[in-house]
Amino acid sequence: MITVTKLGKHLGARITGVDLSKPLDDNSFAQVYEAFFDNEVVVFPGQKLTPPQQIAFTQRFGTLEHHVRKEARLADHPEIFILSNKVNDQGEAIGAQDAGRFWHSDLSYKTHPSLLSALYAIEIPVKDGKPLGDTRFASSTAAYKALPEAMKQKLAELKNIHSYRDYRIKNYAAQQEDMRLGIRTVQEHAPTPEQLASVPDMATPVVRVHPVTKRKGLFVSEGHTSHMYDMPQEEGDKLLRQLYDHITSPEFVYTHHWEPGDLLMWDNIALQHKATFDYDPLPRLLYRTTVRGPAVADSKVLA
Ligand code: SIN
Repeated sequence: MITVTKLGKHLGARITGVDLSKPLDDNSFAQVYEAFFDNEVVVFPGQKLTPPQQIAFTQRFGTLEHHVRKEARLADHPEIFILSNKVNDQGEAIGAQDAGRFWHSDLSYKTHPSLLSALYAIEIPVKDGKPLGDTRFASSTAAYKALPEAMKQKLAELKNIHSYRDYRIKNYAAQQEDMRLGIRTVQEHAPTPEQLASVPDMATPVVRVHPVTKRKGLFVSEGHTSHMYDMPQEEGDKLLRQLYDHITSPEFVYTHHWEPGDLLMWDNIALQHKATFDYDPLPRLLYRTTVRGPAVADSKVLA
């Protein structure tokens, strides 16, 4: 029997009674689908998944992405994006070891931002009996709902720029600084000119309606928003800071403490997330699959 146990006030649930290594029948899938979109982030503990099994389960929700960072894809399974601080025999990072440094939703800079991501925990660092490398999730739908009416009206007219280029350059610089300080021990792959040129900036509305739940959410993030569109820089930055602080206030946040075998799935339209880098040099390894979402209404590609 499938059991759904809520974890937080606004978001988060644990789903037990399903074995994701086997195809779910339509009725079980419908229950999982409903619980997922209702709770925005769900964990299926104790799973034993091969890459094809993870791919088969997440594909039930839509088309899987092949990440622009080819060096972090799993060989023979381009749908799997490796998150890890482990290195190969040449001493190079085997995946992205610095993803999630800033609050963001996955691939929000694309013409079709991600609908959801599923992250499967293979190796989780533990110190003094406590798992390290937590991931935090913030509900941008609950945060939107809690805004004063005047602010909702103001935001309805506004757009912001999601920029892959800005994000990669900012993230890489911060990682280099961590390396210099000795906080991180594995050199992240530098963004290539081809990667930076391959994803154009997007101007997208600040408020987005979720295609499944119809909830409204805030579509801005400190990781991927470079600036407000058509607004003086100082005024835009102030507004963005106010929104970031609001979205990530404790009442809208769920913190996941990982265990090996967790398959955690989150809604990228309803949530933002952030990684915690407190474990180097202990090894951490997770596999991510990401489902493509619909284009954002009223968004446009910038040259
Ligand atoms: C991410 O997908 O942003 C990474 C999350 C994590 O490694 O905790």
